[in-house]
Amino acid sequence: MTEKKGLKDAYSLKTPEDSINLYKTWASTYDDDFAKQNDYRSPIEIAKYYAKYSNDTDNPILDVGAGTGLIGECLNQSASEIDAIDISPEMLEIARAKNCYSKIIEADLTKRLLINDNHYGAIVSAGTFTHGHVGPNVLDELLRVTRSGGLFVFTIHYKLFKKAGFDKKFIEIKKNITKPIFYEVDVYGNNPDKDHGSDHVIITVFRKK
Ligand SMILES: C[S@@+](CC[C@H](N)C(=O)[O-])C[C@H]1O[C@@H](n2cnc3c(N)ncnc32)[C@H](O)[C@@H]1O
Repeated sequence: MTEKKGLKDAYSLKTPEDSINLYKTWASTYDDDFAKQNDYRSPIEIAKYYAKYSNDTDNPILDVGAGTGLIGECLNQSASEIDAIDISPEMLEIARAKNCYSKIIEADLTKRLLINDNHYGAIVSAGTFTHGHVGPNVLDELLRVTRSGGLFVFTIHYKLFKKAGFDKKFIEIKKNITKPIFYEVDVYGNNPDKDHGSDHVIITVFRKK
């Protein structure tokens, strides 16, 4: 029997290969055992802030580290094109079955993406800029594939904002983006985990200039 996977495993990842291995065994139970049981709120919060800041021209949307497609389900914009990108084929299979994505892209975000310059009108992401997953340098490639004026709405784990250098990255790219707006929100409505149950994330919103 496989041991139940959770936050401890996720936060101890170090490489993209670690992510592939962990999410391979976590995919089938992620929505029920992790997201529902802990009232995981980040995807809903992203959808809320996306609705607050977006307009009709912010299309197509790329869900970065889409996993099982929880943001896709929340956005629920029948008229919009939402693509999912993730390194884990098993997580993407669950996302595909939800029929909320136009395209499913299996790729490592830390590498150059096979996506044209200026393609997307918006980038959304939850739970991916976090411990052991991806860091601030991924923003360079995401800016490349987003067109001028494109909207970014994504979570950064609060403990990594300075530690992983997101603060410095925003200074480095400041000529290319509007002034970022930050919102601190709880990740979970009800997670008894004593180490991470009260974690929060920084929802970051800006547009590419
Ligand atoms: C905690 S899950 C979040 C999934 C979904 N966004 C959500 O909020 O439920 C993190 C996701 O990031 C993906 N991921 C981690 N490292 C990655 C990388 N280097 N490239 C692409 N995806 C990656 C994992 O496969 C996993 O699906």
